Amino acid sequence: MSELTLRRPDDWHLHLRDGAMLEAVLPWTTRHFARAIIMPNLVPPVVTKLDAEAYRDRIVAALPDGADFTPLMTLYLTEDTDPDDVAAAYAAGLVRAIKLYPAGATTNSASGVRNFDKVRPVLERMAGIGLTLCVHGEVTDHDIDIFDREAVFIERVLDPIRRATPGLRVVMEHITTKDAVEYARAQDDTLAATITTHHLVINRNHILAGGIRPHYYCLPVAKREIHRLALRAAATGGDARFFLGTDSAPHTDANKLLPCGCAGCFTAPNTMSILAHVFEDETALDRLEGFTSLNGPAFYGLPPNEDRITLHKTPPSYPSRIDTADGPVTVFDPGFPLQWSVS
Ligand code: NCD
Ligand code: ZN
Repeated sequence: MSELTLRRPDDWHLHLRDGAMLEAVLPWTTRHFARAIIMPNLVPPVVTKLDAEAYRDRIVAALPDGADFTPLMTLYLTEDTDPDDVAAAYAAGLVRAIKLYPAGATTNSASGVRNFDKVRPVLERMAGIGLTLCVHGEVTDHDIDIFDREAVFIERVLDPIRRATPGLRVVMEHITTKDAVEYARAQDDTLAATITTHHLVINRNHILAGGIRPHYYCLPVAKREIHRLALRAAATGGDARFFLGTDSAPHTDANKLLPCGCAGCFTAPNTMSILAHVFEDETALDRLEGFTSLNGPAFYGLPPNEDRITLHKTPPSYPSRIDTADGPVTVFDPGFPLQWSVS
């Protein structure tokens, strides 16, 4: 096969940042994607309906000329989040999901949740109105090994929350383990899981063997090879509960290459090329459209995009780093030559 036409894809987990970084990274997403769930972990975070409106307007103002792109906004759940404000933001069609960060789990998550009982009224309201909770699924306890934090979160936090809040729609975000794949497969259709591009490509050796590679460091951190293989099987296997959330998370090289560098891989420019490669490797190119363009809208109750993109078997061209007013940002390097480009 040398050509593949798909409905235009969506990205169900994206960091666009703000200001100069937003301007620099946004065109790389709008080139290919029609919609994206926009993460709210700005400084300060996007907490209220008003914050989300203002952020949406800044994104729209930064859109390249002629771009057809809809940001699907999220609110950052805090222990003080007001259920009425959440419901109003959803009713207005502004906000499509609420984001749960355990406090301290990742970049800019200090305002996240410590005591899950405090957010129960919000979660109950969300279950009642059908609003999705997007979950960063890692415990933050210092005594839990970082490679175990996702599996422990499922058992200690996620499953209890779901049992206590029947009907709550949940997306397990950027899953990185076989445990998460198995948990997701065993649930009903109120649960789905996103998978990033980079977690289909790297395991923990890529970060640590033969020298430390900060550009492969992200959260949740990549795990052992058996986990990567489970993610590939989930993404390419045709189960509609799994769909793309790139977690494209740009940081300047200066902030990545520090003694304590930031977590995040910037995959917006080459995600579709990498995914075509991965799906072709798994002889599953016919399932790429489900993963990138159909399963996500179905879970969120939105129509799939009407327009199409075409992938051609031609090496893509994109820079290895992009320039921003804050400094260069390195694009994720899959470590193998890419053969598919989007026209
Ligand atoms: C994200 C970021 O930089 O905002 N980083 C990452 O490694 N994925 C935060 C997140 O999604 O955990
Ligand atoms: Zn993220």
